[in-house]
Amino acid sequence: MRAVVIDQPGGPEVLKLRDVPAPVPGPGEVVLATTAAGVNRADLMQRQGLYPPPPGAPPYPGLECSGQIIAVGSGVTDWQSGDQVCALLAGGGYAEQVVVPAGQLLPAPDGLSLRDAAALPEAACTVHSNVVSYARLAPGETLLVHGGASGIGTMAIQLGHALGARVACTAGSADKLARCRELGADLAINYREEDFASAVQAFTGGRGADVILDIIGAAYLPRNVSALATGGRLVVIGLQGGATGELDLGELLRKRATLHASTLRARPPEQKAAIVAGVHAEVWPLISSGLIRPVIQATLPLAEAARAHRMMDAGGHVGKILLTVGPAG
Ligand SMILES: NC(=O)c1ccc[n+]([C@@H]2O[C@H](COP(=O)([O-])OP(=O)(O)OC[C@H]3O[C@@H](n4cnc5c(N)ncnc54)[C@H](OP(=O)(O)O)[C@@H]3O)[C@@H](O)[C@H]2O)c1
Repeated sequence: MRAVVIDQPGGPEVLKLRDVPAPVPGPGEVVLATTAAGVNRADLMQRQGLYPPPPGAPPYPGLECSGQIIAVGSGVTDWQSGDQVCALLAGGGYAEQVVVPAGQLLPAPDGLSLRDAAALPEAACTVHSNVVSYARLAPGETLLVHGGASGIGTMAIQLGHALGARVACTAGSADKLARCRELGADLAINYREEDFASAVQAFTGGRGADVILDIIGAAYLPRNVSALATGGRLVVIGLQGGATGELDLGELLRKRATLHASTLRARPPEQKAAIVAGVHAEVWPLISSGLIRPVIQATLPLAEAARAHRMMDAGGHVGKILLTVGPAG
């Protein structure tokens, strides 16, 4: 089979499509013939040598894909060859075939093409596990989503809205703000022009945001804490603005607020399986009923992975960029 390999860290040009050995399913695993793979910001970091795959993961980039099961390992009883699925991966999505623990499979949702299903697993699992399972976002609460037009943000806005929360978000251009409003954001803040903490305080009548899903980290830490409501939950999942910041613990304790930080990729397969089961139970019905749709900026052939990375690096996209594999793509 062919996969996108990274021989040495570098720019998009280091991504090369090459023949590699086909994967074989171990106990509890299946092999998929890939239809499409989602591109994630983490793949850009992996390409630059800044985010190595966890031990045991395939060396090729790609944290999510869709496809058809072509081989089933021992002990797998819930899935069979021919099933159309999408999957949360620890790596290896940029390939014609990929091996996946069976607990990380989701059925391709009704009403979506198998290709478009590749846009869902990473964002749905990241957002649901943080905003719902951890932060317990409740109807009527306010959710602030940073980077509302990102792959993660477009899912978070839709899920927050579908759960009956009031959703505020940040983005860096008028076009992106308009797209965020279409997805269900009640307040869309241009972070280049306005202080988001003041905007959220004004929007909530001085109460603040109950849950903040943050992808910026250090650069937003003080303002995130000041934007939190009493009892608020700040959930940091990205460090685009640095890892080391100053935290006013006094403000945190006066608000009885919590700070949580997590990353999905390195979690053990049992935890990923539990997260996937939660997504299947609580997000999949919202997709089938059309309340949540994948937002897809572009689909490119696997051979053009470098162009997909340049597109993501340039930052003009809204939602996801997909790589399609084989004739079905
Ligand atoms: N911890 C986890 O488990 C986990 C899992 C998945 C993703 N993530 C993280 O989630 C983030 C999004 O990932 P993705 O794949 O969806 O990437 P993406 O689509 O490329 O999104 C990146 C976004 O960051 C926004 N942004 C940049 N500077 C900003 C700022 N100062 N304020 C607000 N937004 C800003 C950009 O929007 P503008 O153009 O509007 O600036 C862009 O939409 C990444 O940081 C990624 O590492 C974490």
